[in-house]
Amino acid sequence: MSHDLFLAAREAMAKAYAPYSKFPVGAAVRTTDGRVFAGANIEVASYPEGWCAETTALGHYIMGGGGEIAEIAVVAERMARVTPCGGCRQRLAEFAGAEAKLYLCDDAGVVETVTIGQMLPYGFEGKILK
Ligand code: THU
Repeated sequence: MSHDLFLAAREAMAKAYAPYSKFPVGAAVRTTDGRVFAGANIEVASYPEGWCAETTALGHYIMGGGGEIAEIAVVAERMARVTPCGGCRQRLAEFAGAEAKLYLCDDAGVVETVTIGQMLPYGFEGKILK
């Protein structure tokens, strides 16, 4: 059911606060037990202080109880197939295993499906820090 996750991401994108880049992004994550959390990018006049749609979605996910992430959808109004930035790949990999699916979308639906492991090969893992 990747399309409903895409729809959640697109709905979130409509709430983006992106007056500076004018590049709205939406993201939605679904846990293995079926909960969906979405978010949009939020920009700030001091540009580096803004953050990505994936980060907003992860904030909602943590506040909603966390758990294991099974699927993620990302969509950007102005890009045919947006991919998460490097920082968001690392953030997503914190909570989603290498096999979790990542749906790269355009404004009509999923264009390509990859895994978190494919998006972040050789990623830094925090196991040793725990
Ligand atoms: N952006 C995201 O929300 N997610 C990404 O993975 C890439 C970039 C946002 C950040 C900023 O508000 C705008 O896109 C332009 O970089």
